[in-house]
Amino acid sequence: MRPTFSRLLPLCLALAAALAVSAAPAPLVDPATEKRIDALLAQMTLEEKVGQLHQLSSFFDPTGPMPEAPDEAARVAKIRNGQVGSMLNVHGVAAVRRLQQLAVDGSRLHIPLLFGYDVVHGFRTIFPVPLAEAASWNPAAAERSARIAATEAAATGIDWTFAPMVDICRDARWGRIMEGAGEDPFLGAAFAAARVRGFQGPDLRAVDSVAACVKHFAAYGFAEAGRDYNTVDLSAATLHDVVLPPFRAAVEAGAATVMTSFNEIAGLPSVSSARLQREILKGEWQFPGFVVSDWGAIRETLPHGFATDLRHAAQLAILSGNDMDMESSAYDRHLAELVTDGTVPSAVLDEAVRRVLRVKFALGLFDDPYRRCDPVRERRLLEAPEHLAAAREIAGESIVLLKNSDSLLPLDPEVRRIAVIGALAADKDAPLGNWRGEGRRDSAVSLLEGIRAAVGPRTVVDYAEGAAVTIGDRVAWTDSQYNTTDRSGFRAAVAAARRADVVVLAVGEDAWQTGEGRSQADIGLKGLQQELFAAVRAANPRTVVVLMSGRPLVLGAVAEQAPALLATWHLGSQAGHAIADVLFGLRNPSAKLPVSFPRTVGQCPLYYAHKNTGRPTGGDGRVFWSHYTDTPNSPLYPFGFGLSYTTFTLSAPRLSAAAIGPRDTLRVTATLTNKGARAGAEVVQLYVRDVVGSLTRPVKELKGFAKIELQPGESREVAFTLTAADLAFTTARGTWEAEPGEFQVFVGNSSEVDSSTAFQLRPE
Ligand code: NOJ
Repeated sequence: MRPTFSRLLPLCLALAAALAVSAAPAPLVDPATEKRIDALLAQMTLEEKVGQLHQLSSFFDPTGPMPEAPDEAARVAKIRNGQVGSMLNVHGVAAVRRLQQLAVDGSRLHIPLLFGYDVVHGFRTIFPVPLAEAASWNPAAAERSARIAATEAAATGIDWTFAPMVDICRDARWGRIMEGAGEDPFLGAAFAAARVRGFQGPDLRAVDSVAACVKHFAAYGFAEAGRDYNTVDLSAATLHDVVLPPFRAAVEAGAATVMTSFNEIAGLPSVSSARLQREILKGEWQFPGFVVSDWGAIRETLPHGFATDLRHAAQLAILSGNDMDMESSAYDRHLAELVTDGTVPSAVLDEAVRRVLRVKFALGLFDDPYRRCDPVRERRLLEAPEHLAAAREIAGESIVLLKNSDSLLPLDPEVRRIAVIGALAADKDAPLGNWRGEGRRDSAVSLLEGIRAAVGPRTVVDYAEGAAVTIGDRVAWTDSQYNTTDRSGFRAAVAAARRADVVVLAVGEDAWQTGEGRSQADIGLKGLQQELFAAVRAANPRTVVVLMSGRPLVLGAVAEQAPALLATWHLGSQAGHAIADVLFGLRNPSAKLPVSFPRTVGQCPLYYAHKNTGRPTGGDGRVFWSHYTDTPNSPLYPFGFGLSYTTFTLSAPRLSAAAIGPRDTLRVTATLTNKGARAGAEVVQLYVRDVVGSLTRPVKELKGFAKIELQPGESREVAFTLTAADLAFTTARGTWEAEPGEFQVFVGNSSEVDSSTAFQLRPE
């Protein structure tokens, strides 16, 4: 029997209720624990203190450049001596227990290790990549997937995830765009906080909670030209108005740790930035947890040209407020001598150690260092059926319908014959995406499997690869590895398309073509994919394109000519079922893009909240205004855009007042109506423009959104509120405040909404 959403719904609702975790988290700092930390610090030697700040990777699963032959025996001896505080990339109850035992039984003060791992969008059950999940515009979905990921990871001994990644990114060339929530700080902040709540749950001590690590602090997503690890140079206003809000939201949601970024900002590497770590994070935001460097980032201040040697690098990092050193061994080698000779005050060391111990106490590790090492839970919880059901549900909510000419979609599940074409359609690995935790290779439901499971018994499903995207290895490290010559599969693909009533063609990129170190200068459809599309469409114009990717891609003719187009990202374990649910109408798509899709790579960076410039329009001529002569300024698909199988109308916004004072609240309302014949959900979006500022302001900024589900013919009033706090920004005076004057208000279903109404913010 095919599962339908009406059948799955009760299960999903029950699961959601069981997983609801909105209670305020317990604070990290409590007087009794601080006393225990005082007592411990009093007993610790200098070397033991330094040890708490030293983090090592496991030898078998590194996520960064390792020394050629890491000396395992030496590392084990260090753990026994209390000279290692944390490990990453160790998982599995048996492995964690073995190492924990070395620390707890072997070391003088029995201080437990903290085990960290990149649990980014699932552990064994894989959820959509975070960019995709943000397309749901439903932070509760992200909270739920993070909760499940935490439950699975914690069942294998992990205490700490290096997530959420909250880097705002406006340049699809950057491979790591897949890890964040897209281009917008307001949407990003909502997802950042939700993910922290999900990972940490209401109580960090719980056996199914892991500490979150908000990363990468800061501005890593603004790497020049979208090239990973590249230089960042941005204004204080952009840092505060765009980059930092998701970090702040995550810290306010109780995130226990923060990871600094690899990049420099205006000449200052983040790991050595006291402004970021001491003044903003630990000062203004009162962050009580600890800061960990990214992998080798302290050492990398040498090639940055900022530190003279590793000792200097250690000195700069610790004085700037970086508490834990991930895989640079800079603290391990030099911190003790820096403290002994007075270069680093011992109070600075003690403060860093206190922060690390605080998180270990909060996780309950001092009471029971093996609390997350229960083999029964480990066996029971990985890929539990209810986790897979949630993965399907959330994946379905992340699919964006970009085009649907002549209502080609949804398809009839009883259709006579379907041709499923494209290497990605049968791929059981690509949908898992990059950073897939412990997701098993080739474990996703492929698109082909999803379609086969969804159609009626008499429907014939033909599969043809058409053309491999790459030659040999599935990942192309150089341009020459894309398949640009082997068309031997075209004939079968064209024949299948010709025979079929409808074609589903999968195009896009492999999981390993995006993510860390996978920046691309050309974000088009690689290899022969455009050619295959042209051949298949010529054979059968009823061709639905399913786009699988970790980023916006440049689609060219595919977007122009395909009658129907779905952005299905890398959707995780249940990808094929989730896509089939949408293709055959069991689910009405409701997702919206969290990031703009460029027409051409030359438009990058591209984002809706741009400035107006002094020459925003053509005026009387063709030349002297801010534009390209060969492509429009606008994106192919804008931020906030996504279609549905039903049609919604939205009334003009109504404001509760024409002017408000700094302490007033403005109510903005609009009426949403479902004019179509199907139930569906629409994401109503509120944008504001601050018309004149002491520093120029974006043409639009998202300030609210609501996802509303309506039956056919149903109408509902959608209400938002705005106060002066929502209008605050970094002014020319360096203050964070709203400036009096005129504000335009837009309410629509994408960032391209253009009709507005205005109000005044009065001075005090
Ligand atoms: C480097 C990545 O930048 C970071 O995101 C990750 O958490 C660490 N490696 C650990 O794997």
